[in-house]
Amino acid sequence: MILPIVAYGDPVLRKKAKAISADYPNLDALIANMYETMYNALGVGLAAPQIGLPIRVFLVDASPFAEDEDLSDDERKQLKDFKQTFINAKILEEEGDEWAFNEGCLSIPHIREDVFRKPKVKIEFQDENFETHIKEFDGLLARVIQHEYDHIEGILFTDKISTLKKRLIKGKLSNISKGKISIDYKMRFPDMKKKR
Ligand code: NI
Repeated sequence: MILPIVAYGDPVLRKKAKAISADYPNLDALIANMYETMYNALGVGLAAPQIGLPIRVFLVDASPFAEDEDLSDDERKQLKDFKQTFINAKILEEEGDEWAFNEGCLSIPHIREDVFRKPKVKIEFQDENFETHIKEFDGLLARVIQHEYDHIEGILFTDKISTLKKRLIKGKLSNISKGKISIDYKMRFPDMKKKR
């Protein structure tokens, strides 16, 4: 089932999400619905707050990046098969010199900005069977994981840009929260709800 994606401005995107346990109700269905929602919107990642649930769950499927011709064969291979559900994730370490990448977000359509992040990340998480893993990622995979991890911490990529750029996109962000955008996937807009 495709779920509506919560748009910028909804307070759920600003909450620090809570850990869940293995008996969380209908978790398998929730995860399946989140994948369906992400693929339908052509995203490479989706976090539970983006479908209105402040819980520590996010998904990554980086395979669309494997088409990028600027990448090495190794990098492409790594991206091509990467699909992972992250539950109760905790970043243990980030390291290296920050690099810029033009990020976007399904909750913030039609806005893309360069965001600086460290290239390597070490993360502890549970998979959908609640088995614990500690893994290290770099490059684009680290990038997507850091972006989705921010969502469960209540942080958006627009928080990480310069004050000047924030000022420049203020109007666009306000239009998104009011639903004054055209978008070809299902969304839920905070400021429209109030008017009804
Ligand atoms: Ni996002």
